[in-house]
Amino acid sequence: MNPVRQIEVQLPSNPYTATIETGLLTRAGELLRAALPERTRYFIITVPPVKKAWAGPLTASLKSSGLAHSIIEMPDGERAKTLNTVRDLATKLIRRDADRKSAVIAFGGGVVGDVAAFVASIYMRGIDVVQIPTTFLAQVDASIGGKTGVDLPEGKNLLGTFHQPRAVLIDPGVLSTLAEREYRSGLYEAMKCGIIRRPDIFDFMEQNRERILQRDPAALEWLIAECVQVKAEVVVADERESGLRRILNFGHTVGHALEAETGYQHFLHGEAVAWGMVAASKISAAMQRADSETARRIISSVLAYASLPKVEPRGKRIARRLAHDKKTMNGVVHFVLPIEVGRVEVVSDVPERAVVQAIEELRCLSQA
Ligand SMILES: NC(=O)c1ccc[n+]([C@@H]2O[C@H](COP(=O)([O-])OP(=O)(O)OC[C@H]3O[C@@H](n4cnc5c(N)ncnc54)[C@H](O)[C@@H]3O)[C@@H](O)[C@H]2O)c1
Ligand SMILES: [Zn+2]
Repeated sequence: MNPVRQIEVQLPSNPYTATIETGLLTRAGELLRAALPERTRYFIITVPPVKKAWAGPLTASLKSSGLAHSIIEMPDGERAKTLNTVRDLATKLIRRDADRKSAVIAFGGGVVGDVAAFVASIYMRGIDVVQIPTTFLAQVDASIGGKTGVDLPEGKNLLGTFHQPRAVLIDPGVLSTLAEREYRSGLYEAMKCGIIRRPDIFDFMEQNRERILQRDPAALEWLIAECVQVKAEVVVADERESGLRRILNFGHTVGHALEAETGYQHFLHGEAVAWGMVAASKISAAMQRADSETARRIISSVLAYASLPKVEPRGKRIARRLAHDKKTMNGVVHFVLPIEVGRVEVVSDVPERAVVQAIEELRCLSQA
């Protein structure tokens, strides 16, 4: 028997539990009955690939627990993360008589998680949502913390709410059907958790690379549960992202700029974050915040996990874009810099030339 791992997200107003267990999908009905005893009608929002691969066991489980349910599909991919999709989903909920006593299940990757929870947060002024994430990225990151939202043509995640889930059910078994590149890309968010707070997670990823890449269930359960723990602690300490939660942006300052500069076509999110973590390590070493051995260790672990798409944009372009980054406050660009593995600092006085230099080094590294 695999151990059942449960992480409590102890938000004073909305505490909830994330449960991590291989094969858990077949027990979803029973877990929902226990976590949301007053809810008996569920609307499962999902995308075609997830429905095809995994809706069967989920709906069978809800049925055997006597929970009424229906599936509502949305189109796949980041391009569907729009207000139009929100309106279509809300219309379908109305037509199927969803009311304030119903709950939404967000069943998919981070896109489904963000959109379905956004709909739930505004439908009839807010109904319950449960997250059942099916990508590695959504399991370790997007499903915890209550951020929801959609994109606008002007930028990503510009409209959204905070709406905490009532429960998060994580079955690492569903990752078996995830495309290899999607899977590897998500692993960088786990590495991020290690670097910002937990040297043991980083060591585990260094030492168990093969097991993790083979999607070994025991390795994944441990890794996912520990990353959920990190995210839960950080979110509880800072629910609305005013302070500590910023450390979760490690690798994301340069990462977001690389994604935007390449029109969101060239990198998967985690791949851009991987380059961003390399850049932050180089900047940290150049500014003598981290010693060169720490930077070297982080960079070599990142590069050992996958071959990353090339970095094409010039350093100057990235530096210019950073000045417009939405994470900037009062015109200051915040960087999360590693000090040692397990400890980072938020720094706002990174000189532009250090950024340009780091990006130029990424370009060299990636062309090698
Ligand atoms: N709310 C948050 O705190 C938060 C945090 C990080 C990221 N996000 C958001 O998450 C989104 C990215 O999420 P993502 O990387 O999961 O992408 P995604 O949701 O687009 O999923 C990637 C692809 O994998 C497919 N897929 C999902 N699960 C599968 C499975 N088990 N088997 C086979 N295919 C499967 C999907 O259909 C999709 O084609 C972004 O929009 C980002 O803004 C939100
Ligand atoms: Zn991220």
